[in-house]
Amino acid sequence: MPEPLLSVHGLVTGYGPNAVVEQVDLSLCPGESVALLGVNGAGKTTLVSTIAGLNPLWSGSMTFRGDTVTKAGPEARATMGISLCPEGRQIFTSLTVEENLLIGATPSRRRRPAATAAQVQERLARSYERFPILKERRHGGGGQLSGGEQQMLAIARALMSAPELLMVDEPSMGLAPAVASTVYGLLRELKREGLAMIVVEESSNRALGLVDQCIVLRGGRSVLSAPVGELPDHATLLEVYLGSSTSEEVTS
Ligand SMILES: Nc1ncnc2c1ncn2[C@@H]1O[C@H](COP(=O)(O)OP(=O)(O)OP(=O)(O)O)[C@@H](O)[C@H]1O
Ligand SMILES: [Mg+2]
Repeated sequence: MPEPLLSVHGLVTGYGPNAVVEQVDLSLCPGESVALLGVNGAGKTTLVSTIAGLNPLWSGSMTFRGDTVTKAGPEARATMGISLCPEGRQIFTSLTVEENLLIGATPSRRRRPAATAAQVQERLARSYERFPILKERRHGGGGQLSGGEQQMLAIARALMSAPELLMVDEPSMGLAPAVASTVYGLLRELKREGLAMIVVEESSNRALGLVDQCIVLRGGRSVLSAPVGELPDHATLLEVYLGSSTSEEVTS
């Protein structure tokens, strides 16, 4: 067994007096990916935000590449190689596409030397190679992009910190099926390149077609955690674990 890239043990967090994620365990090897599924309000965004360091752990522990990062802040975690592409994309609509990308190249102040100007330019060039549409639109406003293009920009921005772990929160939200398929094509390419990923969706065959493991959250707890090859059939997954009202279905 290779050393895990990310190891989360007994994670508890919440807001105010309310715990909304309780006793979650998660372990990912380098290059491995996991789908984090669950209905609205299950705690998916809270969990990935906590892994990114945006919410404190109330209890539990977390290591990344073997280092304990339980108390590290978001910048330190970004510097170590953890990147979050947030729910709803959160594009800065009044900034240009290029300015949005540059924001993703978070300067590192701690564990690794800061990205040099040359590295940032290299990453920008790689983004434009990967996303020709962003190159074409680089001087235009982020708000002028379509939903699918904004999702690509949000992923490209998250890649600007050269992460080893990319967490993508609901990448297909609000997108037409064909556009969502394009986004998943990109995620597949990133996986082939060896990037470890946590892909958050409410329920998606697309995500399950991409990843190695699946975790289902319900009421903040992990109610199912298994390699994708050992999951129950899709109908059971929907009914028992996700709630049958979640019937988003897709082929990719
Ligand atoms: N900033 C906040 N302050 C207080 N409560 C919050 C906050 N953010 C989320 N919550 C609550 O925490 C719980 C989990 O929310 P979270 O957004 O993590 O769920 P989710 O699984 O990502 O849902 P969705 O599918 O809607 O994105 C919900 O009950 C939500 O109302
Ligand atoms: Mg969410």
